Amino acid sequence: MLKGLMKNRWLQIPVQIRKGKTIHSLSSRLHRVFQRLHKYPNDIVIETASVCNLNCTICRSVKADLGRKNRFMSFDLFKKIIDDIVPVCNTIGVSYCGEPLLNKDIFKMIRYASDKGMCVSMLTNGVLLNAEARKGLLDSGLNFMAISMDGASKHTYESIRIGAPFETLVENIRLFVKERSHRRLSYPAIDLQMVVTQKNIHEVNAFEKLARDLGVDRAYLKSLHIDRSKEDTEYVKNLEKDYFVNSTMMPTRYVVNKQGNLELKDKGLCPQKVRTPVITTDGDVLPCCFDIFGEHVLGNIINQRFLDIWNSGKYIDFRRNLAMHRKLPMCINCLPSNYKKINKILF
Ligand SMILES: C[S@@+](CC[C@H](N)C(=O)[O-])C[C@H]1O[C@@H](n2cnc3c(N)ncnc32)[C@H](O)[C@@H]1O
Ligand code: SF4
Ligand code: SF4
Repeated sequence: MLKGLMKNRWLQIPVQIRKGKTIHSLSSRLHRVFQRLHKYPNDIVIETASVCNLNCTICRSVKADLGRKNRFMSFDLFKKIIDDIVPVCNTIGVSYCGEPLLNKDIFKMIRYASDKGMCVSMLTNGVLLNAEARKGLLDSGLNFMAISMDGASKHTYESIRIGAPFETLVENIRLFVKERSHRRLSYPAIDLQMVVTQKNIHEVNAFEKLARDLGVDRAYLKSLHIDRSKEDTEYVKNLEKDYFVNSTMMPTRYVVNKQGNLELKDKGLCPQKVRTPVITTDGDVLPCCFDIFGEHVLGNIINQRFLDIWNSGKYIDFRRNLAMHRKLPMCINCLPSNYKKINKILF
């Protein structure tokens, strides 16, 4: 935790410089430390599970064979990753293409990372947040948790999140907030999020009200993402026709061009400067979360050290030449806008 605070304090320095404030005491040593930190990943996404208990209509990852050998990451591999990255990165997420609560070691994993001073976040569908899971998470030291809820009524929610019982999710969230408060804990911070589509746009106000009633810390709307990096015309057509919302009032990644096709709102340099790698259940290191099929493997953490992969010619070349200039098929889906432009915070 202390490491996290220090890193954040240092990271504020360039912000103050940008704002024109004079920092007389900025020593060259501190500056060098910042430069070193700056070269490392912002945060690392660790895929603890590559399978899911649901089959959401909008989700690309459950509709395709991702080609992973392992459904779940082992605790040993997770531990190796944390030990490797702790000197260079103190923020991790434990969700990627599947449902992290399906991994039987997930609480132990979060505890391990947390004990090493890492800030840990989790994105979950919340359906498996039963009494045991709630206790496990409250004991684990998890810092942030976002729960996906794409509707405020049983009918809407269950028609998008196929396989998820609405009442179970609502009860799980209510009890989790209550149990956190009984323990007088302020973490994990609990967010509720909804991907806005034609199917649920009429429930935006009800979603906000439900989130407030449940007592979560934050609620926000997310923009729909339509993965067009691979041929899958049914999936793309379905999302474009029946899910995409063409409204400037809602967060969106796309505009409709003169030919009537969806186009990204803007196309600049790589928005993440390729400093948010992903490590899959198989240990493959991928450049960013848009590479769900693992087509740009930059190394494998099972038999390589993270820093050796990060500093390899392959990774450096990738950062400089391919990704920064958005030369890959996956980059056509990736918007360089900041978080607030593609998502809308309700409270
Ligand atoms: C792939 S899921 C993995 C974590 C967990 N299973 C869940 O649903 O929260 C990660 C996030 O992606 C979101 N998501 C899935 N398909 C999406 C799409 N087409 N556009 C935008 N977000 C999407 C989900 O709502 C979820 O918040
Ligand atoms: S719960 Fe998450 S991973 Fe599972 S299908 Fe839905 S969006 Fe995809
Ligand atoms: S998809 Fe391309 S542009 Fe987007 S973060 Fe990844 S490498 Fe950068």
